[in-house]
Amino acid sequence: MKFTTLFAGLVAASMSLAAYAQQPIVIKFSHVVAADTPKGKASEFFAKKAAELTKGKVKVEVYANSTLYKDKEEMEALQLGAVQMLAPSLAKFGPLGVKEFEVFDLPYIFDDYNELHKITQGPVGKMLLGKLEAKGISGLSFWDNGFKSFSANTPIKTPADLRGKKLRIQSSKVLEEQIRALGALPQVMAFSEVYQALQTGVVDGTENPISNLYTQKMHEVQKHLSLTEHGYLGYAVIVNKKFWDGLPADVRGQLDTAMKEATTYANKIAKEENDAALEGVKKSGKTQIHTPTKDERMAFKKALAPVHQKMESRIGGDLLKAIYKETGFDPSKL
Ligand code: LMR
Repeated sequence: MKFTTLFAGLVAASMSLAAYAQQPIVIKFSHVVAADTPKGKASEFFAKKAAELTKGKVKVEVYANSTLYKDKEEMEALQLGAVQMLAPSLAKFGPLGVKEFEVFDLPYIFDDYNELHKITQGPVGKMLLGKLEAKGISGLSFWDNGFKSFSANTPIKTPADLRGKKLRIQSSKVLEEQIRALGALPQVMAFSEVYQALQTGVVDGTENPISNLYTQKMHEVQKHLSLTEHGYLGYAVIVNKKFWDGLPADVRGQLDTAMKEATTYANKIAKEENDAALEGVKKSGKTQIHTPTKDERMAFKKALAPVHQKMESRIGGDLLKAIYKETGFDPSKL
């Protein structure tokens, strides 16, 4: 081989090696809701911050609206390493074998975001995230969405109005028990299938924070929405542990900072997004919105209070007590 040919070959090889070395680390972030929701916006915010802070070393690709995976599949994909990051709702960790997360599904356990943050942003939240390690998952943060309300095609003023109805829920045993306590029939279903199930009458109603109801256009196929705000729906941002631990330490540190900033952003916009979505539902004129009176609210609380005791052994009495202590919640006072 002539020297010049050899030299040219070496130059080409080293150039492609350099190009390879500059390839960004890709984080596939899959989720199931629309882009213009608290989670959708926070994941985009994280992607932007991650690129900024790592100076382009990391590229976060966000796949919204179940375009990559549905609820159950995304958990499996994360564990297999097909995606690196998710933010499933806390109700979706039970099937993974981490039942403690279902504590967040207990009806009326948090009165407002302040009470909730005492848990998600405090030691109990940290302890809960730690439980994921055994599943090959690292828990990075909690992101808010909001408080769920019931919708159906008939008015919902009292618990009896839901009796006998088929209601779609997320994959949580606590939510199943909650629906049974109302004399209704729980139907576990992936989020991406709910609109069609409501439209075709496979289910009669469901529960959602308003941002999810509105951005999936469920209000177009639900004539009644009652602002029961009977339970919380929020997220744990999680990563494949092997992938995360294998990142260069400086990059991981920068991503930690990006996640902190994204969490502040997520928890700031969550209420605003849900309030705006409620305005959107109102403006659409497609759904009648009912705000329960004090007595109506109390009737729902009384009907749902037994769920706490029924689920205590599943969730763990100590965890329940720790949360009650922190938030001042007393189920016997319902
Ligand atoms: C649901 O399935 O209703 C929610 O978990 C969707 C979501 O991610 O907010």
